[in-house]
Amino acid sequence: MTVLVTGGAGFIGANFIFYMLREHPDYRIVCIDKLTYAGNLSTLKPVESNGNFRFERLDICDRQGIYRLFQEEKPDIVVNFAAESHVDRSIDDPSVFLQTNIIGTSVLMDACREYGIKRFHQVGTDEVYGDLPLDRPDLFFTEQTPLRASSPYSSSKASADMIAMAYHRTYGLPVTISRCSNNYGPYQFPEKLIPLMIANALADKPLPVYGDGLNVRDWLYVEDHCRAIDLILHNGRPGEVYNVGGHNEMSNISIVRLILGELGKPESLITYVTDRKGHDRRYAIDPAKIHAELGWLPETKFADGIKKTVRWYLDNREWWETIISGEYRNYYEKMYGNR
Ligand code: NAD
Ligand code: TYD
Repeated sequence: MTVLVTGGAGFIGANFIFYMLREHPDYRIVCIDKLTYAGNLSTLKPVESNGNFRFERLDICDRQGIYRLFQEEKPDIVVNFAAESHVDRSIDDPSVFLQTNIIGTSVLMDACREYGIKRFHQVGTDEVYGDLPLDRPDLFFTEQTPLRASSPYSSSKASADMIAMAYHRTYGLPVTISRCSNNYGPYQFPEKLIPLMIANALADKPLPVYGDGLNVRDWLYVEDHCRAIDLILHNGRPGEVYNVGGHNEMSNISIVRLILGELGKPESLITYVTDRKGHDRRYAIDPAKIHAELGWLPETKFADGIKKTVRWYLDNREWWETIISGEYRNYYEKMYGNR
């Protein structure tokens, strides 16, 4: 079995590759990644000498390159993680989000049609459903919830989902989609909430909380997401969407306080800054379908996962300090300098 993983030098893709090589040691994993600012080849060091692993630097929008790779590798399964993934960057400049997330996905699916595959899995996000109000804790996103994306990022992901479903219906491509809530864990790029707050707290820098800090996200430990995708690949039904989330809603401010507590840093570091434009209020997944059909349940409780994650960032300072000392400094200055 050959599995083509796109975007595997990023946060979730890399964790997925580690997971698959461990759980299916007989599978061949081919990873392609453009190595944008978010892709980091050093993350894949632990598997680079594994005989069942191959990496190639490739843009999913590069049709010729993608077709050549399909010709060479004849993948059985394609799992598409490759994407521009940060909402704030999409607000600053949507164009590359539309290019990679929409056009790139369609190029991959055209290659799948041309060469034939057993499964194309699109890694989607719960953000395609828009947001929920804070005062209706009874409401959750189900697979039937209409798409109502609010940011350039989430609307590009919603477009990709719709095109994937169109390829299923029109061409019979065996497509599945997972729509997962916010992930956290090792190797997350330090522009995202949890690693950014850990890095700033360790440097005794202000912790920039957007708006009133009461926005809610439904957090899932990355390995639980990887296991959900593995289950969908093997037992999920083509043409179906599976929501993935662990009923673990937390406000941003409570997460920031937890991190400060873990690190023994003072709450005086918390700084409220101008809100994100169009900031989604609350995300919350109803995972009943994936539980009922595939028996999936999250295994890592947030209290344990956040401890493990903080520990990982403490033990792997070189990984993220290298990132924040480079080009990322300009990004940080642009986004937070005058906020
Ligand atoms: P990430 O930004 O950490 O990684 C994205 C990877 O894709 C990077 O390695 C980057 O180099 C690569 N990439 C970008 N453009 C590319 C292109 N044109 N061709 C090839 N590679 C390219 O993102 P992540 O957090 O690991 O997210 C992975 C996927 O999961 C995305 O599709 C995202 O929408 C989805 N998702 C993320 C979350 C989350 O909480 N992080 C939740 C649900 C879904
Ligand atoms: P983020 O990690 O960017 O994920 P997403 O927006 O895709 O859910 O942000 C998570 C939440 O944290 C979101 O409500 C925005 C907020 N946030 C801050 O308050 N400060 C920050 O510096 C960042 C990066 C995010």
